[in-house]
Order: sequence, then C-alpha cells, then structure tokens
Amino acid sequence: MEEKTQANLKLAFQGESEAHFRNRAFAEQAEKEGLPQIAKLFRAMAEAEAVHSFNILRLRGIVKDTEANLERAFGTESFAMGTAYPKLIKEAEEEGERTAALIFSRSRDVEEMHATLYKKVINDMFSEREPEYQVCTVCGYITDGPAPDQCPICQAPSDKFKKIE
Ligand code: FE2
Ligand code: FE2
Ligand code: FE2
Repeated sequence: MEEKTQANLKLAFQGESEAHFRNRAFAEQAEKEGLPQIAKLFRAMAEAEAVHSFNILRLRGIVKDTEANLERAFGTESFAMGTAYPKLIKEAEEEGERTAALIFSRSRDVEEMHATLYKKVINDMFSEREPEYQVCTVCGYITDGPAPDQCPICQAPSDKFKKIE
C-alpha cells in the first residue's frame, strides 16, 4: 500500500476510535442527565464509528491469526508497562500533575498483569480450562476467577467487577 494512504488509514483509525469512546462517554453522561433518547443516539453513533474503525483495521492488515495476535497484544502490553507509561508518569510528575500521574501509574500496574495473562495463554493456547475473567470497571485490572473483595490496584469493592461472558 502507498505510504501516504497507510499513514492516513492510521490517522482515520485513531479519529474513529476516539469518536467511538467519546460517544460512549457522552451516552453515559446523557443517561445521568435523564436524557435516555439522547444517550441512545450517542450509543448508535459509537457503534457506527466502531464499524469504521474495524473496517480500517482489517484493511491495514492488523488482524492476523490468533497466535500472532496474542504475540502482538503481549508486546503492546509490555511496551505500555515498560516504556510508554513510565515516560508519561515521569512527565506528569515533572509538571506536578498528580491525578494524571496516578492514573498513568495505575494503568501501568494493570498493563503488567494484562501482559502476564497473555503470556499465560500464549504458553497454553489450547487449554481446555474455562477461564472466568472479571474486569475492574474502575482501573481495568483483570482477575481470572472470582472477584476479590477489593481490587488490588485501585481498592474498588468487588461489585465494581464486571464478569466477561
Ligand atoms: Fe466515522
Ligand atoms: Fe492492557
Ligand atoms: Fe481496580
């Protein structure tokens, strides 16, 4: 594929993905304001922007077979925890942005355990064991098994965990 088009697909993917999440957050806000019909519109938009994102992802050849996808996902988590977040944390601290530093630092800790979860399945891809993933909706920590009384990263109570079907 031509260079400019490749770069533009990446840009479009970033924009569409941002729009997807922004609209989901806008939908939550509309629900809070007692405007469910507007929330529904934002959710519809979010869904549509996700379609655009997925179309671009496929065209860019990002999706490969599952073994390769697991390796890539593991690599991304490792980069996030080892390189990307440490830099962001340092820069937030330098600017005295304590909340941003805390959010980055929690995310870094969580990415570390995401990497561990990937590593586990990479080493045992055809395991028959049925996992039971639950995600902390506050910080993104994932447990394989029952939700803990308190999230080990952000201390959220167990009812903040969402079971993944
Ligand atoms: Fe779009
Ligand atoms: Fe992650
Ligand atoms: Fe958490």
